[in-house]
Amino acid sequence: MSVNQSLKPITTEIINNQIHIGGCSLTELAKKYGTPLYVIDEHTLRSICNDYKNAFKDYKNIKMMYASKALCTSAVVRILDEEGFGFDAVSAGELYTIYKSGVDMTKVLFNGNNKSAREIELALNYGVGRFSVDNFYEAELLNKIAAEKNISADILLRITPGIECHTHDYIQTGQTDSKFGFDLTQLNEIVSLIINKYDNLNLKGLHAHIGSQIFELQSFYDEVAILVKEISEINKTFGLKLDEMNIGGGLGVKYTNSDNPPNTIDLAKAVTDAMHKYSVEIPTIYLEPGRSIISTAGVTLYTAGSSKQVPDGKKYIAVDGGMADNPRPSMYQAKYYAEKAKNPDSDKKETVTIAGRYCESGDILIEDIELPVIKEGDIICVYNTGAYNYSMASNYNRVEKSAMVLVNNSQSDIIINRETLDDLISHDSIPDRLRKQ
Ligand code: LLP
Repeated sequence: MSVNQSLKPITTEIINNQIHIGGCSLTELAKKYGTPLYVIDEHTLRSICNDYKNAFKDYKNIKMMYASKALCTSAVVRILDEEGFGFDAVSAGELYTIYKSGVDMTKVLFNGNNKSAREIELALNYGVGRFSVDNFYEAELLNKIAAEKNISADILLRITPGIECHTHDYIQTGQTDSKFGFDLTQLNEIVSLIINKYDNLNLKGLHAHIGSQIFELQSFYDEVAILVKEISEINKTFGLKLDEMNIGGGLGVKYTNSDNPPNTIDLAKAVTDAMHKYSVEIPTIYLEPGRSIISTAGVTLYTAGSSKQVPDGKKYIAVDGGMADNPRPSMYQAKYYAEKAKNPDSDKKETVTIAGRYCESGDILIEDIELPVIKEGDIICVYNTGAYNYSMASNYNRVEKSAMVLVNNSQSDIIINRETLDDLISHDSIPDRLRKQ
């Protein structure tokens, strides 16, 4: 079993009828730091890193990257750096966080379908290791900016491999009709441009990402087969020696008991089997998982507040967070699992719907979950919120963003401070003519 197959952080245990994670009691964490509170378990995070490293240990040319869009904070970056991971970044903000965290920027790949000139310039100044060039416009722009600096940029070309995997439409990216990457029929044209016109671009290989929360290993096998085929065709046609492929991320996690994602060993087998079957020379493979690295390590703690029993209908329990700290249920109909932090196994259970506090009827975190009877003030723990929660959080209704703590060996440390009311207005500006005299 690998960590992405676990519903809860792997240090989760019950001591004196209280859920503990990383040796810390959840009710104590809620008391100390307030709620909503994101909690990241360091041991779970480091364990999935080891799962990936072990799974690919027999394949020497593997480069593990972390897709920082899943959760990009300075402390998490430090842990991934210590674990020997590189980083996939998609914005100036992610690049800056990674740079300021002291990472060797040659281990960073800059990715995205509409990088701005300012972001490209920043990435070149930081000396990022690879650019994943997404489209014709970007190739021209990157070449121009690199030429002005008299440097050359090492690039991969992002392709759409034409693979439809079974996941939510919004997080499927590898199908032919996609906003990302070059269509396979455009590859020869862009490679000729690079060879004949773009003197400041140095082509190293291809990049693809077929989607997210994927459970079918066949999709990864097919993806690698396509990448290998395209690389060898380019090499043959243009007399090149491209030897790098980036297969993106996508491995699924277990949000609820009905999810059964594959483990990292079987993922590695699918990838390396496809390599060995189709490749003559073994290229360097980059992997850039996001969700499967950080999701399981994270939980969110909420305090229960008001409740409402609809006559002959549902019972709603409202919590002090919701769609602004976790937009996934309202955006993707994502399902989550939760427990009451104190006496989670108590016999008296009822089916409730956990509602958020935001002014929108769609702000429901979990529909119809069986929980012990919840009273105002009880702490509820929602599992598997490490990925795409904080990173997609908003200030909707002008609510302060939640704090995040890192737990390990019974110790807890703040890694993101809770926003304050002053933070919320700190970027506001009132024109003079509107100022109160
Ligand atoms: N590489 C590329 C080029 C990507 O676009 C992504 C995710 C990844 C790697 C990491 O994929 P992962 O291992 O996390 O599946 N907000 C959505 C997920 C969007 C994923 C976007 N790209 C969600 O909450 O489900």
